[in-house]
Order: sequence, then structure tokens, then C-alpha cells
Amino acid sequence: RNRQHQLEMQQLIETFPMFAQVDENSQEELLLLFRPKVASPGERVIRVGDRGDGMYFISSGAVEVQLEDDPVRLKAGSFFGEMALLSGGRRTADVIAVDFCQFLVLERRDFNVFMSKHPALRAAVSDMAKERKAMNVSR
Ligand code: CMP
Repeated sequence: RNRQHQLEMQQLIETFPMFAQVDENSQEELLLLFRPKVASPGERVIRVGDRGDGMYFISSGAVEVQLEDDPVRLKAGSFFGEMALLSGGRRTADVIAVDFCQFLVLERRDFNVFMSKHPALRAAVSDMAKERKAMNVSR
């Protein structure tokens, strides 16, 4: 493995500690699966009601999830867009970039394949989704 590659992996894990729990081969697979995407301030990244096309990991910048009362801000190291993929349903909220953002997107098919091979990771993502849903109903 070359140095460049090692650095990429190291950076990935620094930004997203949850990936430390997957083995090295799978980390490598992730790097190949991730589709880089950018957004400008004010841009809508996810539209409520759409079908889920992918899960987004924020490498840099911040987004706002437009929930009814006050929006929730997510920054580098967080993820969003997991709910519609887990449920097979529709996007539950608009998500707007508030900065210039860089994302790593795991497309739906890749998400399904990768998560079925990594149940612990799926469980971690699913726990977060549950926490978020619980937060939303109590608002
Ligand atoms: P999804 O429904 O696919 O698209 C909108 C996303 O907003 C959703 O997935 C979550 O990732 C995110 N989201 C919804 N509610 C919250 C919340 N309370 N806190 C943080 N993120 C949220």
C-alpha cells in the first residue's frame, strides 16, 4: 500500500471514528465506494419526500437539517441521510448546506451491500437514527 493511500485511510478514520471498527480491507473498500460531492452555502442537499439515494458523510463544512421548530446543525465528522436508506422510505427532512461542504456519499446499493457485511456498523448507524427520531417526536 502506498503512502498516499495510507494517509487517506488515516484521515478517514480521524474524521469518522466509527470506521475504526471495520477491518482494513473494508476501509479500503469504503474508499472505493465513496462518491465525493460538494455543496455551496444555501444549497439543498436532501429534499424532504424524495426517495433515499445515498447516505452522506460530512468531510468538511456544515449542514442544517430543517426540522419544524429549530434546525439541527451537523458538521464535519457527522452523517445524514441514513433514515430513508434504513427504512426504504422517503427523506424525512430537507438538509441545506450552510458552508461550502465536502461529502462522501455512500449510494443506496453500496450502503445495502456494505452494511449487510458489517452488522455492527449498521447497528451504530441505526442507533443514531433511532435517537434522532426520538428527538424529533419529542419536539
Ligand atoms: P433522511 O430522512 O434520509 O433525510 C433527512 C435526514 O436528516 C435524515 O435522514 C437524518 O439523517 C437527518 N435528521 C433527521 N432528524 C435529525 C435530527 N434530529 N438530528 C440530526 N439529523 C437528523
